[in-house]
Amino acid sequence: MNPLRWAKDKVLHLAWRRGRYTPPDRRLFEVEILPALAREKGNDRILFVGVDWYTKGCAAAFEGKHFTTLDVAPEQSAFGGFAHVVGDLRELERHFKASEPFDVVLMNGVIGYGLDHRDDVDRALRACAARMRAGATLVIGINEEIPTHVDPMSVPSHRLFEPRSFHRWPSGRVMVPVPFRERTHTYLFWRRR
Ligand SMILES: C[S@@+](CC[C@H](N)C(=O)[O-])C[C@H]1O[C@@H](n2cnc3c(N)ncnc32)[C@H](O)[C@@H]1O
Repeated sequence: MNPLRWAKDKVLHLAWRRGRYTPPDRRLFEVEILPALAREKGNDRILFVGVDWYTKGCAAAFEGKHFTTLDVAPEQSAFGGFAHVVGDLRELERHFKASEPFDVVLMNGVIGYGLDHRDDVDRALRACAARMRAGATLVIGINEEIPTHVDPMSVPSHRLFEPRSFHRWPSGRVMVPVPFRERTHTYLFWRRR
């Protein structure tokens, strides 16, 4: 990365941490995507995968609903919701019953940040499908320009889902330019077939 870009990245991350700046992808996620999901009829059981200091406020959009967080790293538990599970998304079936499927699974920033190989992503999508009701929504947030990115459309289990029109994105996809080394952040909206 060139030094100017590196410095801008550092300054903006510091401002974000201090509450003086919100990156455009997060603003879209928190201000539009989460509230639009919460408004949709039938979205009562929500699974939020991967937590960090900046995800603590995400539960607020789903007040009164069953909101569960999941992270494979025990040290992230402090950032989890009231109902938090330490576990691997690839083994979701071990942690949740088939009789209580999710209406929404949020998988933002997990591909490329732990799920870094095609087999990981294939297993994770298959496990999600096994614990989602037919018609449930899967939101996948990806940074398509990072070296660890895996295209979720490239794995066999993507066929368990189909893109869905969501909010103001009829194609079920929106790409946001970000002022960080990742350059872009893309959200995909899929429906469990
Ligand atoms: C970039 S961070 C936070 C992502 C957050 N969901 C968001 O909205 O930005 C990625 C998190 O995903 C977790 N993670 C990575 N692989 C995972 C897996 N297989 N199962 C559950 N959590 C995983 C990591 O431990 C890390 O805390």
